[in-house]
Amino acid sequence: MPKFLIVLSAALALAAAGCARDAAPPTDAAKPGDAPAASTEAMDATRDEYSYAEPGKVKTTELALDLGVDFAKKQIAGTATYTLDWLADDATQLVLDTRDLEISKVEGAGKDGQWQPLQYVLADADPLLGSKLTIDAPERNATIRVTYATSPQASGLQWLEPSMTEGGKQPFMFSQSQQIHARSWVPLQDTTQVRFTYSAHVTSPADAMVLMSADNDPNAARDGDYSFKMPQKIPSYLLAIAAGDLVFRPISERSGVWAEPAMVEKAQAEFEDTEKMIETAESLYGPYRWGRYDILVLPPSFPYGGMENPRLTFATPTVIVGDKSLVSLVAHELAHSWSGNLVTFSTSRDAWLNEGLTSYVENRLVEALYGKEQADMESAIARGELKEEFTEENKALQRLAVKPGDLDDPDHNLTGTVYTKGAWFMQFLEQRFGREVFDDFLRGYFDHFAFQSISTQQFRDYAIANLLEKNPGKVSQEEFDAWLYEPGIPDNAPQVKSQRFAVVDAARISWTGTGTLPSAQVTSKWSTQEWVRFIEGMPDTLTVEQMQALDDAYHFTGTPNGEIAQRWYPLAVRSGYHAADEEMAEFMQRVGRRKLIMPIYNALVKTPEGLAFAKDVFAKARPGYHPITTGSVQAAIEGAEGKDAAK
Ligand code: BES
Ligand code: ZN
Repeated sequence: MPKFLIVLSAALALAAAGCARDAAPPTDAAKPGDAPAASTEAMDATRDEYSYAEPGKVKTTELALDLGVDFAKKQIAGTATYTLDWLADDATQLVLDTRDLEISKVEGAGKDGQWQPLQYVLADADPLLGSKLTIDAPERNATIRVTYATSPQASGLQWLEPSMTEGGKQPFMFSQSQQIHARSWVPLQDTTQVRFTYSAHVTSPADAMVLMSADNDPNAARDGDYSFKMPQKIPSYLLAIAAGDLVFRPISERSGVWAEPAMVEKAQAEFEDTEKMIETAESLYGPYRWGRYDILVLPPSFPYGGMENPRLTFATPTVIVGDKSLVSLVAHELAHSWSGNLVTFSTSRDAWLNEGLTSYVENRLVEALYGKEQADMESAIARGELKEEFTEENKALQRLAVKPGDLDDPDHNLTGTVYTKGAWFMQFLEQRFGREVFDDFLRGYFDHFAFQSISTQQFRDYAIANLLEKNPGKVSQEEFDAWLYEPGIPDNAPQVKSQRFAVVDAARISWTGTGTLPSAQVTSKWSTQEWVRFIEGMPDTLTVEQMQALDDAYHFTGTPNGEIAQRWYPLAVRSGYHAADEEMAEFMQRVGRRKLIMPIYNALVKTPEGLAFAKDVFAKARPGYHPITTGSVQAAIEGAEGKDAAK
């Protein structure tokens, strides 16, 4: 088979940077009253540098999958059939994104409805983007079908041995498509600039329950033969599948949890407020447009906290701690049903449009359900961490509107900027315009751009016309643009004060000063956030005796709460408190959620002794880690070894 030249990602990024619109404020700023552009032209102006697809020429409108899940081979295989809308008159090629896929056949439906083979070329793989699949379709077929199989190393899938599940008896598999991993399990136009409906027929071993980001039936018979429909148009990164020993428990008419049998009751109790969250979000931002909202609790190797797969949020089990103190994760993923799934960013450089707006909405839902104190504590923790994250060196990624070329890998844009600065910007606008005006604005925004992908520029034009110009004298364009285009946090950002954190801070200061620990009367009422604040405010290192005293009093080592573990173990590493080593290693092997374990690895690799420990734990943990987590840990270890070698 002929091969295209290897396209190096650097060359591609350069080329894309040359033609994409710069993220700085344009000189031809929208005139007041201009209708916000959401046309195909406007989207094409913002080229997606992480996809080979050419959505200006042809777009997939419908995807039909017919797949088999084979646990023994760690493989999904079958066909993907695309219904196509040929846009450009002269277009005769369909370009798809793939990664590590084996393509065995490509066919096009002729005018007579018969499948005919089509010529295609699968290019050599680019390390970041995968292999471009170019299909020749001189007849501009209305439907094209690709027969393919995935690799056991597919970056968007994880295959778990039974021992890595709660039940320990059945294997498990799940996808994580965001940002550009859908192409590792389905050949497709893997860009947010294409939206499609989908249907799927999936076969699996009879004892596995298969779920997708679609119309899962809570009463589906577990028989190894499943059919799905997703009637709303979604971008490729929201395509999702999971299979394993999964059972359902309802929360309300339209929501419920899927989990392994041993976990499902705990999950149902932890997430019992989900219906209230949906109703609150609807009262603020308009109807929930996706039918059911269910939550799938994954095994602890899931590399993220949550993933907003439409109709079926994927969630880490590490938020199930018994007191609902971490259910802001559900608020967050649910909020994506408006910010992200309904109105989607058009390139990863605009990720804040998804994650920043969502983090803002998340905090509003937490406030409505659990009170302002809880919401403020969560904001204060996030903002404290954001300030730690900002350094002189990473100024480029402190801009909400990331400039072309400033982002290497779209998976590297899960920064505090995107989440916390984005949410802070929204809170700034809310406070200046008042809740009523701002809530109406957001509701109108979600409605106006529903089922479209938009750029920061389009958000800006819309906000200037519908918020700033309509409510003059509240926020100037300069103030607005400073949030989008300048690094750091503007001086006029609103501050949060938490009474409960003041108590925690006083208790900690008193302990570090006099050695008197806060009484059980005080700490018995503390929730996760207060314990996090208590630990995060500690000096960089403590003495081993101090660490021991804290452990004796509060049993941090071995905590089942990952948010506490994430802060306690790095402090233990920095303080040379080896009494925590064994439980810490156990935690690092059991949990694959990057946010929770990377701070521990990062603390460990700073010393030769710690690096050796990290490598030892990683060697044992690796078979159970998701490819995304493996990549992060490897980078941390190699980074440290590189530095050592350079010495
Ligand atoms: N969509 C993200 C996860 C994501 C972002 C995956 C970018 C890949 C690339 C999801 O909604 C998210 O933000 N998850 C957070 C949880 C949250 C409560 C902040 C996470 O996983 O930590
Ligand atoms: Zn998110």
